[in-house]
Amino acid sequence: MTSYKELGLVNTREMFKKAVAGGYAIPAFNFNTLEQMQAIVQAAVETKSPVIMQVSKGARNYANGTILRYMAQGAVEYAKELGCENPQIVLHLDHGDSFELCKDCIDNGFSSVMFDGSSLPYEENIRITKQVVEYAHAHDVTVEAELGVLAGVEDEVQAEKSHYTKPEEVIDFATRSGCDSLAISIGTSHGAYKFTPEQCTRDPKTGRLVPPPLAFDILHEIEKKLPGFPIVLHGSSSVPQEEVDTINAHGGKLPDAVGIPEEQLREASKSAVCKINIDSDSRLAMTAAIRKHFDEKPGDFDPRQYLKPARENMKKMYIHKIVEVLGSNNKL
Ligand code: G3H
Ligand code: 13P
Ligand code: ZN
Repeated sequence: MTSYKELGLVNTREMFKKAVAGGYAIPAFNFNTLEQMQAIVQAAVETKSPVIMQVSKGARNYANGTILRYMAQGAVEYAKELGCENPQIVLHLDHGDSFELCKDCIDNGFSSVMFDGSSLPYEENIRITKQVVEYAHAHDVTVEAELGVLAGVEDEVQAEKSHYTKPEEVIDFATRSGCDSLAISIGTSHGAYKFTPEQCTRDPKTGRLVPPPLAFDILHEIEKKLPGFPIVLHGSSSVPQEEVDTINAHGGKLPDAVGIPEEQLREASKSAVCKINIDSDSRLAMTAAIRKHFDEKPGDFDPRQYLKPARENMKKMYIHKIVEVLGSNNKL
């Protein structure tokens, strides 16, 4: 058993309380690689922001759970080395799909876990979330739950709406499961193709896709039902069009990739939404820099030559999110 406290990590409780009260959101960046970890820490330290470093089941399979845990410990030490006296870093399991996986993470240094029972029947979702909460709270680990299903890109708009979180369920769900935060579905989705062209309109000037707005009415109803309760948004990458253009200009193929407009995330951050999940934007920033590098310098073959600009581009993106979108800068 390794407690996250031994690693210098923190859980989300105080962080979320302050974020909800202060009208900002904590960035939750997924990581699989050393360069992502370095870029996240550098960005958080330079902006004086708390940060959630999150690991999916796929990331654990890719990078190995033990290595990722030591990387999180390394992240805390690295932040101190960069001059941050009291780094606020959470190591979070993203989309845990069983009690056993959540327990394994809690036993191995995670300070926060998500149990994602959103595809389960309602009562089953409550039952397993509660089981995770009981184990997690005994170790002072916080738990994120999910209610409502994030839409798949191939879904019809109609079908998406029927998966939105039902505000009338949130009090019962949060009370009976005992979760510390709740991920909701209001129109975001995972990946770089969040909406089909049919679901969007086109800006006549730029020809770019303009996605439909998020369901802020549902968010506000949920906030009224659970005043001050921490709300989480998954699938919140903006899919920056300049990165998509760079990728496409250097041999990539991402036609009509589209994300959540930043002004909507800015608005959400001011509400009870206190954790915003971003993964795809980091993937795009990394891929764009690497594709460009290879195109311009085809003779390079030392990974450091192309991973350095990739790391710099991700760092720039993380800083932009923290300062210009979520507002979590200067909160340490
Ligand atoms: O929500 C999903 C995250 O983007 C993680 O993705 O399962 O491919 O690591 P992954
Ligand atoms: P994006 O695919 O929009 O980055 O969402 C990431 C996410 O929700 C991780 O849980
Ligand atoms: Zn997610």
